[in-house]
Amino acid sequence: ESTENRQLKQLHDDATKLYQHILMNTEMGQKALDYLHNRGMTDEDITTFQIGFAPEKSVLQDFFNEKKLDYQILRQSGLFIENQAGNLRERFINRVMFPIRNQNGQVVAFSGRLLEKNKDLPKYLNSPETPIFNKRDILFNYDLAKKEIRTEGNVILFEGFMDVIAAYRSGVKNGVASMGTSLTNEQIYLLERSTSQLNICYDGDDPGQNATNRALDLLTNQTKMKVGVLVIPNGMDPDEFVTKNGKEAFLELAHSARETTISFKMNFLKRDRNLKNESEQIDYIDQVLRVLATIKTPFEQDIYVNQLADEFKIDKTILRQQLVDLVANQP
Ligand code: CTP
Ligand code: MN
Ligand code: MN
Ligand code: MN
Ligand code: MN
Repeated sequence: ESTENRQLKQLHDDATKLYQHILMNTEMGQKALDYLHNRGMTDEDITTFQIGFAPEKSVLQDFFNEKKLDYQILRQSGLFIENQAGNLRERFINRVMFPIRNQNGQVVAFSGRLLEKNKDLPKYLNSPETPIFNKRDILFNYDLAKKEIRTEGNVILFEGFMDVIAAYRSGVKNGVASMGTSLTNEQIYLLERSTSQLNICYDGDDPGQNATNRALDLLTNQTKMKVGVLVIPNGMDPDEFVTKNGKEAFLELAHSARETTISFKMNFLKRDRNLKNESEQIDYIDQVLRVLATIKTPFEQDIYVNQLADEFKIDKTILRQQLVDLVANQP
């Protein structure tokens, strides 16, 4: 490993400790600490995930100036923004700081969350790419989750940091999150080395469910892992679900509420459709058949054909004939 990379990691380690100290032990961090507690986060979570706070005051600069650190290292760290005159100022101001760790548990970047809504600033601000932070390669919490993924036999993919942490608090410790984007090939490869079952647990709201549907389409071509879905009811985020319904409820959901790709799609196609309306019902059945036509295993296909036939009181042989026609006409 290069000297430069070692120095960059040291810098992140120092920053993590400093931000954490500010959150836990200072007046500057009090509001942020209250915020986290109000969202159900425990001091144990804060310690496990090394969460901190970047205040208004330029604490990093003061700290690193004292240590007489190399300007180039500071500049490359992504923790600062450089102005025209070549002066550095802190990138993260007034944000709860979530350290992003690599596979070896070393902090290589941060994501900072505002305490309050601000229409001019993004809710989450991430470190830019640096010599030690390649977004494509990193999954939040993979280092801690790795062992658990192996013992559980599956990995759960969440949208956000708060969701991973809430799940962890519930005893569901095989969760990871990508950094606000869809999974990259590098991240998929990382997961494939530990498990053959990937479960998507995105937000229960419309954007989350739409993203799930998109992810399923992409993933089926990208991975050999079996892909399942955990649906959070009532449009909630996993994090909200844990806070409202308790740890046991989430543990139960994670262990028992898994849907297959096909049953997710069958339910997803029901959203925004009034199935009492005849033409919408016909359209729904047509769309579902197109999904069923993609199933390679005959008995599996048969299970869903039977479900559909029972639900809408249609003759199974007619549905099967329609499927044969659909498959024959596939490009
Ligand atoms: N995200 C981001 N930048 C934003 C908004 C979101 O990078 N401006 C990423 C973050 O990684 C976030 C994820 O997308 O965790 C999911 O977004 P969202 O559901 O809006 O955030 P939550 O994780 O639910 O955050 P919170 O509960 O703190 O509001
Ligand atoms: Mn406390
Ligand atoms: Mn969301
Ligand atoms: Mn949330
Ligand atoms: Mn969310």
